[in-house]
Amino acid sequence: MPPGSVILIDHPVVQTKLTELRDYTADHRRFRALLDEIASLMVYEVTRDWPTTPRPVQTPLERTTGRVLARQVTLVPILRAGLGMADGVLRLLPDARLGHFGVYRDEATLTPVSYYKKLPPDVASTEVLLIDPMLATGGSALAAVEFLKAAGVTSMRLVCLVAAPEGIHALHERHPEVPIYCAAVDRQLNEKGYILPGLGDAGDRIFGT
Ligand code: PRP
Ligand code: URA
Repeated sequence: MPPGSVILIDHPVVQTKLTELRDYTADHRRFRALLDEIASLMVYEVTRDWPTTPRPVQTPLERTTGRVLARQVTLVPILRAGLGMADGVLRLLPDARLGHFGVYRDEATLTPVSYYKKLPPDVASTEVLLIDPMLATGGSALAAVEFLKAAGVTSMRLVCLVAAPEGIHALHERHPEVPIYCAAVDRQLNEKGYILPGLGDAGDRIFGT
């Protein structure tokens, strides 16, 4: 994957669901359901070029060779909002392990404050999907990527829903080898660090807070 890759998943079904998700009238039940569905759909594109390895299989008729994912997978949701995508991804990658990275943005400075970190012991040898619906200033994703790199992770992808140009720039300035998969690149941030047009505060909309 070339440095600075941003892969926009513009599949019509994903875009339809994203538009419904942006709608301010979607309540937390609807928002959670849509986010879960979009996360599942995105997995196909995000994993499209993952390496596979041959595996013999006995069908009811004869023996043949199939292909399976070559590497174990670790899913790392950025708390809280990343949790809203986790089940959708796990539905397609049920053998994945889960790590967690807890971080919130200080409302005044917008700098990330991390409060929880936990990874599987063998995370360094796995394919890591870092998931968070929003990439705004990029502070939270940067902190997560740096935590994962410090743990020895060499292959990771950021999967978000809506990315701001500011966040893409900030992440790729420091970590150009981390591809960003998203369903939309929005216009800009407002003075409070919210993405425009965006979808509001993802965590609040998922959890009804
Ligand atoms: C949101 C979102 C991202 C972060 C993006 O989390 O889920 O993690 O903001 O903003 P950034 O790119 O400027 O860092 P938030 O800080 O609202 O915490 P929460 O998920 O716990 O509500
Ligand atoms: N975090 C969110 O949840 N929404 C934004 O628009 C920006 C950061």
